[in-house]
Amino acid sequence: MNYLLLYSTQDGQTKKIIMRIAENIRRAGISCDLRDLATVNHMNLLPYHKVMIGASIRYGNFNSALHKFVLRHENQLNQLPTAFFGVNLTARKPEKRTPETNAYIRKFLTKSPWQPDSCEVFAGALLYPRYRWFDRIMIQLIMRMTGGETDTTKEIEYTDWAQVDRFSETFLQLECQK
Ligand SMILES: Cc1cc2nc3c(=O)[nH]c(=O)nc-3n(C[C@H](O)[C@H](O)[C@H](O)COP(=O)(O)O)c2cc1C
Repeated sequence: MNYLLLYSTQDGQTKKIIMRIAENIRRAGISCDLRDLATVNHMNLLPYHKVMIGASIRYGNFNSALHKFVLRHENQLNQLPTAFFGVNLTARKPEKRTPETNAYIRKFLTKSPWQPDSCEVFAGALLYPRYRWFDRIMIQLIMRMTGGETDTTKEIEYTDWAQVDRFSETFLQLECQK
């Protein structure tokens, strides 16, 4: 058995999450390949038994690499057992941390020609000191408007690692026959 895990990240949080999932899968005795969507163009997914894609939100959108990959691989993705997760700061609020209540995930699923078998949303990280000046000001503004952290000296990881582990388990349990 071999699984494929693909990710799209800007500051590394989505990669950190998918690496934890890869660790959980390998611990279960299954091998998996990890790829950055920014470096993947066309690939044959059919040799893989399952595929997972994770991507983060920046200014309201997933990276275009995600949309391009989905459009190019729509048929193969829909033939395999698949999972998708999104990462964003809106999900730091528990009531916005489900695929049904997170607007970014809902929009993605409504428009996507690929319908994953399992879907999840994780809270990301707020890394003020690492942002460029413009991004730091913009994120601080959004945080102020939504009642979040505004101290720009802070780095806060909101990701719930137990939720990540539960999603790994759900992925391992996905039926292989499609
Ligand atoms: C410039 C910038 C824009 C962002 N825009 C949004 C946004 O529109 N909505 C949101 O919920 N989170 C937003 N975030 C938060 C990111 O989704 C969060 O930091 C996530 O952990 C990033 O994951 P990554 O490091 O894998 O890219 C933004 C973060 C940055 C730095």
